[in-house]
Amino acid sequence: MRVLSILGTRPEAIKMAPLVLALQQEANVQSALCVTAQHRSLLDPIIDLFGLKPDFDLDIMEPNQSLNQLASRLMRKIDNVLEETKPDYVLVHGDTTTAMACGLAAFHRRIPVGHVEAGLRTGDMSQPFPEEMNRCVLDIFSTHLFLPTDAARRNAVKAGATGRLWVTGNTIIDAISLMKDKLLNDSDLRAGIEQRFPWLDPTRRLLLVTGHRRENFGSGVDGICVALKQLAKRDDLQIVYPVHPNPNIRGPVYVALGSSPNVKLIDPLDYLDFVWFMQRAHILLTDSGGLQEEGPFLGKPVLVMRDVTERPEAISAGTARLVGTDASRIVANVNLLLDDEEQYRRFGRRSNPYGDGLASRRIVDALCGRPVAELHIHDSVLASYV
Ligand code: UD1
Ligand code: UDP
Repeated sequence: MRVLSILGTRPEAIKMAPLVLALQQEANVQSALCVTAQHRSLLDPIIDLFGLKPDFDLDIMEPNQSLNQLASRLMRKIDNVLEETKPDYVLVHGDTTTAMACGLAAFHRRIPVGHVEAGLRTGDMSQPFPEEMNRCVLDIFSTHLFLPTDAARRNAVKAGATGRLWVTGNTIIDAISLMKDKLLNDSDLRAGIEQRFPWLDPTRRLLLVTGHRRENFGSGVDGICVALKQLAKRDDLQIVYPVHPNPNIRGPVYVALGSSPNVKLIDPLDYLDFVWFMQRAHILLTDSGGLQEEGPFLGKPVLVMRDVTERPEAISAGTARLVGTDASRIVANVNLLLDDEEQYRRFGRRSNPYGDGLASRRIVDALCGRPVAELHIHDSVLASYV
């Protein structure tokens, strides 16, 4: 069986890496990997970290390219790979333009498509944009839907998905578990990371910030920067913000915060370093999807700078909260967690609604036609936390 996995951005690489590694172990599977390189600097270190060897690299990234440029170039280039490899299955992940365009190209060639992290929904086409549309489209034509939670399964059924469905857990838990073990078992590695960031202040609590969503460009980013400037006045807090290279983020963030004392703007971190930072952080402040899954796993409160989320499980479990991008609301929520120990303790409880680290195994079993022990973790975890 020939399986072609396709990925292009940082989160896809992190979440597909454990699956690609599991496929390589499978005797019945001829596994090939195509990176579109929708991202370049964000992608390559992850490929190296997990020891992946791409068979194809479409080298798509161009500075600040439009979604239509990106999608059309992707479809043209991936078609040559599909022609050459003639896969029995194509696997794509989540909701990026890489996933949508490459999945559609496979569909046009009547190649069965497996959608990893299927079924996520906010119910609002403008948030996240354009990801909500991408995941809706993928769920409709995919033949195999790998759903991280029971809620995702319900969304897929409601949307009329006609493919086969499996609740597998999210492969991000497979990935972060690998990183956590790596860090836990290697004190030299930990010491090396610590040495590379000598400016980290152990006497201050760490607020770790990420933000890159398109719907937050402009006023959303402005609100986030105003909030961080305000929070930086606290002498018990250190703010660290690895800034996404997207010029629509990087430009305004450096203009607004570049000279702000106590806001450390840095380049994006390699995944292993970033997991170390998350473990060290007191609070995660983010508009990212992945951090909403990683925070609960690590027992770190997540304040989500969005109005809606496709990841309601952590909100229900009480370990994540939607705070939007209004500066005063962000400041109030961070201050609450810093000043109210009981709130922090309840919020930062470890909860794991997104998986048990075996999602990749289940996906490989499903592809190989073996029985799959599906994961029904969500309801029981929530019951113990709500
Ligand atoms: C994309 C995904 C989004 C995902 C995010 C992860 C889509 C529609 N969106 O966001 O779901 O959460 O990636 O980060 O696919 N850039 C670099 N180097 C890089 C990566 C990006 O310089 O390694 C710059 C380039 O100017 C690029 C721009 O950032 O054109 C935007 O990259 P893009 O892949 O379009 O990011 P988003 O669409 O914002
Ligand atoms: N991440 C990273 N380095 C950073 C910031 C984030 O490795 O400097 C990781 C993070 O742990 C998560 C993933 O990147 O696994 C999230 O990617 P991103 O925020 O780009 O996309 P999203 O999750 O919003 O789709």
